[in-house]
Amino acid sequence: MEILKIINLCKTYGYTEAQVKALNHVNLSVKQGEFVAIVGASGSGKSSLLHLIGGVDRPTSGQVIIDGVDIYSKNEKELALFRRRKIGFIFQSYNLIPVLTTEENIKLPMLLERKTDEGYVDELLGILGLMDRRHHLPSELSGGQQQRAAIGRALINKPSIILADEPTGNLDSKHSKEIVDLLTFSVKKYNQTLIMITHDLNIAQRADRVVYIQDGFLKQNEVSTH
Ligand SMILES: Nc1ncnc2c1ncn2[C@@H]1O[C@H](COP(=O)(O)OP(=O)(O)O)[C@@H](O)[C@H]1O
Ligand SMILES: [Mg+2]
Repeated sequence: MEILKIINLCKTYGYTEAQVKALNHVNLSVKQGEFVAIVGASGSGKSSLLHLIGGVDRPTSGQVIIDGVDIYSKNEKELALFRRRKIGFIFQSYNLIPVLTTEENIKLPMLLERKTDEGYVDELLGILGLMDRRHHLPSELSGGQQQRAAIGRALINKPSIILADEPTGNLDSKHSKEIVDLLTFSVKKYNQTLIMITHDLNIAQRADRVVYIQDGFLKQNEVSTH
C-alpha cells in the first residue's frame, strides 16, 4: 500500500536575486512499512524535503499526499493535528523543551492527544536507555541522550510515518547502530514507514531503498537489492 506520494514538489526560498530553488519537481512514492534513506551533499535539499513531508513547512508548488490525503489542502490547525497523529519527526537539532524533563518531553505529544500509556512510556525509556535519566532536564543530558529523548518523543504516539533528519549525526558508530536498531525494531513492530536522512553509508545500506538528492533534484534509479 502506498502511504506517501510526492508529486512535482518545489520549494523556493527568498525572492528575486537571492532566490534558492531548494527542491525542483520532486516525485516520490513510498509504501507502508518501507525504510527509505535519503542521502546527498550538504545544502542539496534533504531537510527541506523532510520538512515538507512532515507538514512543518509549506511547498511553493506540488503536493504531498499521505494516506490518500493532500496534506497542504488542510488549514494550519488541521495540519497540526494530522502531524501529531500521523508523523513522528526527529529533528536534527532535537528541539526538546528545556523546562520539561526527559519523561515529560517524551510524553508531550501523547498528553496533547489526551491519552496515557505509562506502559509504553516505560518501554520506550527502557529501550532508549533513559530510565535513570527520566527526571533530568535536557540541559543535564549528553548530546546522545538528548537525541534519544527526541526519538522517544517521535515514537510515543506510534505514528504511521517516522521522519528522521540525521538522527545519528552526533553519535559514534556503536550508538548509531543502536539507534537504527531501535528505529527499525519500532518500524517492524508497529508497521511504520521510516524515512531517514543520513550521511552514514552503513546506515543507508540497511534501508530498503536509497534515494539521492543533488541540487534539489531527486534521483532514485539506484534501488538496493534487498
Ligand atoms: N529557511 C531558509 N531560507 C533560505 N534558504 C534556505 C532555508 N532553508 C534552506 N535553505 C537553502 O536551501 C538549500 C537546501 O537546504 P537544506 O534543505 O537545509 O539542505 P540539506 O538538508 O541537504 O543540507 C540550501 O541552499 C539552503 O541554504
Ligand atoms: Mg539538513
